[in-house]
Amino acid sequence: MCGIVGYLGIQNPKTIIIDGLKKLEYRGYDSAGVAIIHDGKTKRIRAQGKLKALEDKVQNEEFNGHVGIGHTRWATHGAPNERNAHPHQVGEISLVHNGIIENYLEIKEELLAQGAIITSDTDSELVAHLIWNEIQKNQNLLQSVQNILKRIVGAFSIVVLWEKSPNELVAFKDGPPLIVGLSKDKSNDEFFIVSDVQAALVHTNRFVYLNDREVVHIKDHSISYYNADGEKLNKPESILDWSTDMVEKMGFEHYMLKELYEQPRSVANAMAPYIDTDTHTVKLTDIGFDAETVFKKIDRVIFVACGTSFYAAMIGKYLIEQICRVPVDTDVASEFRYRRPVIPKNSLVISISQSGETADTLAAVRLAKEHGAELLSITNVAHSSIDREAAGHMYMNSGVEIGVASTKAFTSTLAILNILALQISKARGALAPVSEKQYVQNLLAVPGQIEVVLAYDKYFSEAAEQLKKYKGFLYLGRGVSYPIALEGALKLKELAYMHAEGYAAGEMKHGPLALIDDNMAIVVVAPTDELLDKTISNLQEAKARGGKIISIGTGENKSLKSMSEYYLSLPHSLWTTNPIISVVPLQLMAYHLAHSLGYDVDQPRNLAKSVTVE
Ligand code: G6P
Repeated sequence: MCGIVGYLGIQNPKTIIIDGLKKLEYRGYDSAGVAIIHDGKTKRIRAQGKLKALEDKVQNEEFNGHVGIGHTRWATHGAPNERNAHPHQVGEISLVHNGIIENYLEIKEELLAQGAIITSDTDSELVAHLIWNEIQKNQNLLQSVQNILKRIVGAFSIVVLWEKSPNELVAFKDGPPLIVGLSKDKSNDEFFIVSDVQAALVHTNRFVYLNDREVVHIKDHSISYYNADGEKLNKPESILDWSTDMVEKMGFEHYMLKELYEQPRSVANAMAPYIDTDTHTVKLTDIGFDAETVFKKIDRVIFVACGTSFYAAMIGKYLIEQICRVPVDTDVASEFRYRRPVIPKNSLVISISQSGETADTLAAVRLAKEHGAELLSITNVAHSSIDREAAGHMYMNSGVEIGVASTKAFTSTLAILNILALQISKARGALAPVSEKQYVQNLLAVPGQIEVVLAYDKYFSEAAEQLKKYKGFLYLGRGVSYPIALEGALKLKELAYMHAEGYAAGEMKHGPLALIDDNMAIVVVAPTDELLDKTISNLQEAKARGGKIISIGTGENKSLKSMSEYYLSLPHSLWTTNPIISVVPLQLMAYHLAHSLGYDVDQPRNLAKSVTVE
């Protein structure tokens, strides 16, 4: 949801900002812009479309100042055109904004009544007007920002540049992330203000994470932090040990393909901290709270998440209920936060979020906190807003995920959920050592099994041409394969823009059967388990009506194979880890279909990776 880069320092701001925005393009890519000081004046250049358009436009432009701001946009208010692209400039003020100003109409009316000339359809420009009005009176950037903070309501992170003071930047946030990067050599020669550390990772590993309603003021070679009341704060610094390789494509055509191929390693990395590979047991250690104590006392688990993370949560329910016999609810975070949920005493609320910044998930977590629930977050980004809100932390350890459609974070999450179910069961004394060993050995085999499934890459790149002809795709599964069917359909929708629906196989006859004809492909996830025969019966019903079947089963399943146009065989595994393996062919299928249709796999239209508005 929009990416921000602010820079003040000794290097060329143009290069730093454009390179930083490239790392943030996953957050929004409908327009982009920069405002950099040149000869004491603001030089603002904006372009509609992907960052490349801006890059071409600024290529031959000179900037001799040391400060600038840049933005890549995912439109909320106002169409994605150049007029609405950031930075917005009013008088001597330019500003970039990520988020939504909820009371923008009221502010707009007031500004229009004062005679302001508003040149875009955005809510963001209005904030620039407010600051410009203040600064004309007090000639103080920090003071002006502090004065208007109370006026704006919503979710925002904003960086402001004042032409008259070319060694100064002020930023503030309430909602979407904003992180300050400090010079690596501690010289205070340069400062970065970014929506995601990836944008500054090549320059530094020293970061300070802003909390909501905090203001940061950078001037000359010093930096200060304030709360909303203007009181100075001491903020801790974090050292990040991510390598810059993690954010490059490493020779793959797309980030998504690279991330797909990383899954054997990322799943192994996710499990490593929680498994004792000598004894084949799960560790019950301190994860921010004492896992054994908390897991022993809980009476209920409630999952909150969005998108692909929500489908992981659905699998978490199957795992925890069946292995631990603890009741589990799953909620889409945007529903949970507004339906006045009942959160009984001794509830463990588990949030799942790759980015750790999804606005609805964050709000759901805060609501649960108000109700006194124990909070456990499963995120890929340590120190992210959701991670900071929770007492307990488990990490996906997937490395940076850039492709907008989540892949490796999903499979890592499923591995973590397997471990969590075993930990909860163990803490409650319900996990027999022999079962624990069997589950853990089965988990340890998963990275190798994913390698085997990745060999389907070639198969799908060839099949994509044939699969393109179908008008619709129905994804079916039962038990833990049902959320995998939902995830497979989501991948196809978001990447290939094809109509796809995920259904519990048993529900097919309650509606979707009416859709089936020979233009409809039925993708079924049917590993060998006690539900297999029932799923095969459902497929017979679909096949009898002309549906073309693409099936994913275990080993050489003759009956499944004989009724399918395409059959993919998965390695044998327990039901608990089957979803981690069976989702991989569905990811590959969506990738290759989208690619063969000529779509941008890493940046599907209208979407963004980190959804920091509700
Ligand atoms: C967006 C992304 C999805 C992701 C969802 C939740 O919609 O495009 O890939 O699953 O947000 O994101 P989170 O970071 O909370 O897991």
